[in-house]
Amino acid sequence: MSRLGIGFIGSGFMTRFHIKSFIAVRDADIRGVWSPNRTNADEAASLARSIGVGDCQSYATIEEMVADPDINAIWLCGPNHKRIENLEAIVSTIRSGKGSLIGVAIEKPLARNAAEAKRVIELLEESGLLHGYLEDQIFEPAVTRGREILWQRAAALTGRPYIARCAEEHSGPHGSWFWQGDLGGGGVLNDMMCHSIELARYLLTDPAKPRQSVRPVKVSATIGCLKYSRPEYAAILKETMGSEVDYLKRPSEDFARATITYEDDAGLPLIAEVTTSWSYVGPGLRLSAELLGPEYSLMLNSLNTSLNLFFSRRVSGPAGEDLVEKQNAEQGLMPVVASETTEYGYEAENRYFVRAFLDGRMPEVNGYDGLEVTQLLMTAYQSAEEERTVTFDPEAILNFIPAVARGTWRP
Ligand SMILES: NC(=O)c1ccc[n+]([C@@H]2O[C@H](COP(=O)([O-])OP(=O)(O)OC[C@H]3O[C@@H](n4cnc5c(N)ncnc54)[C@H](O)[C@@H]3O)[C@@H](O)[C@H]2O)c1
Repeated sequence: MSRLGIGFIGSGFMTRFHIKSFIAVRDADIRGVWSPNRTNADEAASLARSIGVGDCQSYATIEEMVADPDINAIWLCGPNHKRIENLEAIVSTIRSGKGSLIGVAIEKPLARNAAEAKRVIELLEESGLLHGYLEDQIFEPAVTRGREILWQRAAALTGRPYIARCAEEHSGPHGSWFWQGDLGGGGVLNDMMCHSIELARYLLTDPAKPRQSVRPVKVSATIGCLKYSRPEYAAILKETMGSEVDYLKRPSEDFARATITYEDDAGLPLIAEVTTSWSYVGPGLRLSAELLGPEYSLMLNSLNTSLNLFFSRRVSGPAGEDLVEKQNAEQGLMPVVASETTEYGYEAENRYFVRAFLDGRMPEVNGYDGLEVTQLLMTAYQSAEEERTVTFDPEAILNFIPAVARGTWRP
């Protein structure tokens, strides 16, 4: 196979980001979109056609899209609470002998909790498909280049890095389901700490060694609802996201931090400090990271852009997200992320997974990585709930459902 035909499940924010990134991906065509709302699916398909990344059409069902021999891989971008249902539809179609699928790439988080993540793995194994875990941040050019130089030059001479600090912060997600603990699987910890955990782990792993060379040992975490539990912000949330989002009665965390202790294959202790929030108001989404070692450090901040604009108070137009994702203002001195699909890693990520699927190779970032991240997230929830450090034990955390997801969390 020389070209990969891709079908998307979901036609929302993430699918549109991925579609735009494919202008920088070779050897792949976006050929299909399925979403429960056909009009939205048609619009996403039309976006793909209009930017020249594939002769794309919408499908009536997941089964119909998977059965089409022109679709060779699925990018699974539905909401978290539909992950299992979506994957079951894919796998049952394959089981019935239809289609020519070789791979599926699944958005983060792999699932809402460890038991669901395990079910995802069971379905993937049963299907025999190649699988990828879509964690864009480890494909950010600044991350991959920084890690490469740091490990090649400084770590090789003076010793491995020991601390990674990663943060993702913005002023809150765009869709109502993210704000509902039962649908998302939690709040910002589940939604965004998955990124920071995987990025910190990636930075701390010797590029010459496998993921398993860095082993999680214990987790200490805190969660809070700092902004949206205030009555005035709970009211704004209800008004913008719908009456089902009531943070006075059923809040999710809008802040989460965790310290994860790892051990490397030589028994050296390593620390990942991760922090995420939906309560950060700055120009827009801020991704930051540091990697510290005995004689060196790396730091990056996605809002330290090379392009900045200044608009005086007489420039007053409609609100938008044309300067940066989760933009909060349209006046004053503002950073612009000139190519978000490049900077956040989507282009390199999609190039990587397309190449792996075309080569018939299991991607190095796959469902098993998503499973471990989910197990770490659940351990972090348990630590925050019990206000103690929790030893990482995948078996012990298997049936843990965060109080936020059960609707019983009262900050
Ligand atoms: N990598 C990242 O930085 C990043 C950013 C945002 C979202 N995500 C992840 O991507 C996934 C999608 O998020 P989003 O921001 O696009 O959400 P969204 O709400 O913008 O879009 C979700 C889409 O799924 C569709 N949908 C509804 N019911 C469905 C069903 N039963 N089956 C399949 N699709 C259904 C909706 O119609 C919509 O098109 C989530 O898992 C989310 O965590 C990742």
